[in-house]
Amino acid sequence: MPSKSFCIPSAPVSRLITRRGFLEKLGAGTVATLALLRELRADEPPATILPPTTTAPGTPPAAEDLLAAEEPFFADFARVFTIADEHKYLVASQKGSMPIPILRHFKEGLDQIARDPFPVYLEPSEVTRGKIAKGYGARPDEIAISRNTTDAISQILHGLDWRAGDELLCSTLEYPNCVATVLRVAGRFGLTVRQFGVPSRPDFSAEEIVDSARRRITPGRTKAMFFSCPAHPSGVAMPVRRLARLAQEHGIITVVDGAHYGGMFVPCLDETGIDFWGISGHKWQCGPGGTGILYARNAQWPANPAPLPRFYIVRSGDLDAPTDGSRPAGFDLGAALSLYGFPESADWRALGEVCEFWDQVGRERIQNYILALADYARARLVAAFGEEAMVQPCKDAELRSGIVAFNPFPRPEQRRDPKLCHEFQSRMIGECGFHVGCGGTGLKGLTRPPDPEAAAFFDSCIPNRDPETNQPTPDDIPFRTGTPAWCSRADMDDFVSACKVLVKKMGG
Ligand SMILES: Cc1ncc(COP(=O)(O)O)c(C=O)c1O
Repeated sequence: MPSKSFCIPSAPVSRLITRRGFLEKLGAGTVATLALLRELRADEPPATILPPTTTAPGTPPAAEDLLAAEEPFFADFARVFTIADEHKYLVASQKGSMPIPILRHFKEGLDQIARDPFPVYLEPSEVTRGKIAKGYGARPDEIAISRNTTDAISQILHGLDWRAGDELLCSTLEYPNCVATVLRVAGRFGLTVRQFGVPSRPDFSAEEIVDSARRRITPGRTKAMFFSCPAHPSGVAMPVRRLARLAQEHGIITVVDGAHYGGMFVPCLDETGIDFWGISGHKWQCGPGGTGILYARNAQWPANPAPLPRFYIVRSGDLDAPTDGSRPAGFDLGAALSLYGFPESADWRALGEVCEFWDQVGRERIQNYILALADYARARLVAAFGEEAMVQPCKDAELRSGIVAFNPFPRPEQRRDPKLCHEFQSRMIGECGFHVGCGGTGLKGLTRPPDPEAAAFFDSCIPNRDPETNQPTPDDIPFRTGTPAWCSRADMDDFVSACKVLVKKMGG
């Protein structure tokens, strides 16, 4: 087991650290860091083998092998952040941390703007969008810079060509900000909102999720499908491509909340077959707060050859952009959506730079490490508290993400006690030094009072539904941790030990 103190690992990246003074070079700024990482990539082809399947929630040996091979590299990667070494910060699902060189250049940008505030952009938006598009598997005209996921999803859902009576099909796992948008859009256009259940059971599979969604489609009336990947309350990575195919079979527009997708997964957006994505720049992607990515498919791709859906631009200062929702050939939608007022612009530039930084390190490498570490964390939690502690599907490899949802209390009534669970959350940080997320969306979900079915849900539960009957079927209150790439198995061990101690103290 690697120790938490810094050791001199044997991978080539570490040789560069010692020989060439990697950390000192950070002081030279982003360009030097990126150049150096380019050197790293040339020196050492990444171990990009991801085990194709994970079965039982134990640590698959392939994941253990990957972690053993990659931990030295990611120990060095961790040194590019100011994250404290003790009680590692694990909840990139709340907010990420900017890498030091990006942060420095960001601050320099703010200083530059303060000295001479006249220029609107430190870097033209098409340059930044080009950097993002490259790493996200999209064209620059499909990428807009938004303020965050909430903003992107709000623009997307308000921009569709709705007719009264249309149906909007959502998963049961949507984040409250976006639930608010769904309710607003439904109220404004007279839509019916339907839900498909995604139970947080360990053995729930991708196929069952697709079946659940299929059952709730009303042919000819379901206009759009909206879900998150990964979803906030349980961390399940919804089977994006399968759901995209299902939607296309029925002529349904797809909108995905990818708040946790960018920076965690290799985001080949044009290949997903999805029409619209809203992605956070400041969570797993580790850009500045208040940055996000809005993707709008702007061509007919092999994964989605459907004609482009009409899309009304809600926010743009572009006087020449169409006002009728059409998209003439050659129309740069990303540019139109990125033209609004006077941005700070240092944050935009930093978002582009952090995306480039991720590309340099290797998005596949980061993804594989995060997912393997999450497998490890799940295995440790299962070993400590049993499989019933997992509040997420975790046997189907397709559904795994770097968000680990669990509840370590042994008795069902404890796992459904909001007071006890919130106390655990505050004592985890107060006594053990670890932040954890707590709660599903409970009564803030899509089924809300005065809907009589809301009575079936309780505060902080995951307001789920049975995938066959659609009856309200609340899941236990989840706690969430995560496995950002600056962490190691030792950090996960510390975290699980802290949970064990605290559960015991709290009468578990
Ligand atoms: C699934 C999901 N969507 C949206 C958000 C809001 O993110 P943002 O700050 O990017 O708007 C969150 C925040 O945790 C989330 O978990």
